[in-house]
Amino acid sequence: MDKKALETLLSDMSTEEKVMQLVQIPGSEYEADAEITGVERGQVKESVKRLAGSTLGIWGSKRLKKIQEQYMKEHPHHIPLMFMLDVIHGHKTVLPCPLGQGASFDPEAVRKGAAMQAKEAAADGVHATFSPMADLCRDARWGRIMESTGEDKLLNSRMAAAMVEGYQGEDLKDSAHIAACVKHFAAYGAAEGGRDYNNTELSEHTLREHYLRAYGEAIKKDPVMVMTSFNSINGIPATGNTFLMKKVLREEFGFKGVLISDWGAVGEMINHGYAEDRKDAALKGMMAGVDIDMCSGCYSAHLEELVNSGAVPMKLLDEAVLRVLNMKNELGLFEDPFRGIDTDAGPVISEESRNLAREAAAAGLVLLENKGKALPLRKEKNAFIGPYADTKRLQSSWAFSGDDENTVSLWEAALELYGPEALKTAAGCTMLDQDAVTARGQRHVDHWQEENDRLLTEAVSAAEWADTVILCLGEDSAQSGEATSKASLKLPAVQLRLLSEIKKTGKRIVTLVFTGRPLELMEVRELSDALMICWLPGTEGGHAVLDVISGKRSPSGRLPVSFPYTVGQEPLHYDIYPTGRPKPENGPFEYTSRYLDCENGALYPFGYGLSYTSFEYGGEKLSAQKMSAPESITASVKVRNTGDMRGDVTVQLYIRDVCASRVRPVRELAGFRKISLDPGAEEEVSFVINEEMLRFWTAEEKWESEAGKFLVWICDSSSAGKPLEFRLEGRA
Ligand code: BGC
Repeated sequence: MDKKALETLLSDMSTEEKVMQLVQIPGSEYEADAEITGVERGQVKESVKRLAGSTLGIWGSKRLKKIQEQYMKEHPHHIPLMFMLDVIHGHKTVLPCPLGQGASFDPEAVRKGAAMQAKEAAADGVHATFSPMADLCRDARWGRIMESTGEDKLLNSRMAAAMVEGYQGEDLKDSAHIAACVKHFAAYGAAEGGRDYNNTELSEHTLREHYLRAYGEAIKKDPVMVMTSFNSINGIPATGNTFLMKKVLREEFGFKGVLISDWGAVGEMINHGYAEDRKDAALKGMMAGVDIDMCSGCYSAHLEELVNSGAVPMKLLDEAVLRVLNMKNELGLFEDPFRGIDTDAGPVISEESRNLAREAAAAGLVLLENKGKALPLRKEKNAFIGPYADTKRLQSSWAFSGDDENTVSLWEAALELYGPEALKTAAGCTMLDQDAVTARGQRHVDHWQEENDRLLTEAVSAAEWADTVILCLGEDSAQSGEATSKASLKLPAVQLRLLSEIKKTGKRIVTLVFTGRPLELMEVRELSDALMICWLPGTEGGHAVLDVISGKRSPSGRLPVSFPYTVGQEPLHYDIYPTGRPKPENGPFEYTSRYLDCENGALYPFGYGLSYTSFEYGGEKLSAQKMSAPESITASVKVRNTGDMRGDVTVQLYIRDVCASRVRPVRELAGFRKISLDPGAEEEVSFVINEEMLRFWTAEEKWESEAGKFLVWICDSSSAGKPLEFRLEGRA
């Protein structure tokens, strides 16, 4: 349909019909078994259901075809219904959770992964996904850190942009692609105390320089949608925040697509103390520029009345509706309301998608310790012990359209690779402590103590038989994701007991940690010979982990988030602002900015990760010591594989603006490149530094660079390397 035809359609619609294009209702209204949390079916009036422009949380070629047929028949203008779904890290084939994808430091692989997800979801009738989540996360207590690609704005920007490209492809009419939605705008990751849905207080410069960056970069790739966040920012809920939605999102970022609220967030402005009642909430959401009200019911109940009374101008309504119609049009729904589901075939997990998932999961595994070269595993007796040793629950709480039964567990992959002779497995303990709480409530196991004693005895005897124990520990997959904030970052006590009992057998211990968030790993580090973070690795998790621990490939993942010594350090991130009393390297420490009982920095810092081979960095240099715009400088380093195995290495570029009108972080990631090197091979890696990369939100509240001294590190992690120096001359 061309623009004119869309406008004609709009002018022919009644106010009620228009309003309903802005109403999204839960998929459970159409089908009893739609995967929607916390909502009973039948809460939405039939009149709303008949006209509501979109729904979410429902998929499947056959059933969506049926729903679409019925809906279009009844709709006065036969406008198709739009189906949205949280395809976060996989639809049928599940990739590692986003944090695990972040650890790959490989945006191209992430783009390909998103394209694969889009293809599978589209074949199940899905038109749009609520991804990528571009929220910057510096607080491991916040369970949704699992859904992000980490604590760094540049890494997040590249990953979020790659996901938008992957989901949407070149042309949205191509039914192998779906619309992307950049969320949660804005600064949801900064929730105070790491408690989900909590308020955020952020200065404008921290907001702009750190928190807004990844959304902005992702929006440059033209995502069809953006979603508001649940939190308030500096006293104003994001969903009613005109500064954010009108000034930043529409004016500055030039976003032209559809702005959707988060689930119920329009109505939640009442709880925030920002809207008096549901009518006021609808008014405030609409005036702030929220196009689609996801499931709060405020628009469906009050928007028509608000438009009729003139409180909401018809022009505003028309603009919002036109954006929604335009989205349907871009998706090609007017030509083919059954796009992707013309046949009932539905998606299949192909060999290609499995390979992609295996590669993605393997690329994100981060080796933190490898004492005495405990890894790769030797061809000897290996015991896979722990609650993650033989489970198919390797996907996160946000992969609900993927079935566990398609997942390859570690144990299955180990049997496949080594055969049963030299292997044993034992659960060792329950996944959770007694009465542990997950997002969906209390987990209670009958006879918990007896059960754990029995499991432990079994595990100790398997360990005594083995030469090496591969101890598979972690957080339950329902302990990260939405509404899973935690005040402790320790592994469950029952798992730590297992570790210390296994240690007593004197066997070599390779600990694999499955998690959606950084954890406190001091004790685990001490008791283990090798330690590797496996995140929530998805459908091919078992194969991917075995590929790496068996030595078929070398680990190459890097931490996309800092792992703390203790939870008391949170929020923790490497790109902190300096203080007037920095802690000196070698003391005296009195009256400096430090903890009495803990290091300032991370136990394992951002960008850190080991390999089976070794790499040497040398000859770091800058092409010039001075630069003025529009010139650029090249920073380069020679990296050599000095070990005896092929491996990937992620070379990182960090910059510090030493003195500016506003203090600048002690280091900021300014570039990264992942390369593969054969043993003995060397490659020069270079990065271009230009004036644009040095801009920040100055004391004059402008994006500008300032002349002066800059430090540059080309190195292996956020705490490695020696800096080089250059000066930026003149003012841009
Ligand atoms: C989450 C969003 C999600 C939406 C729809 C909300 O609770 O915050 O991230 O996209 O639900 O499922």
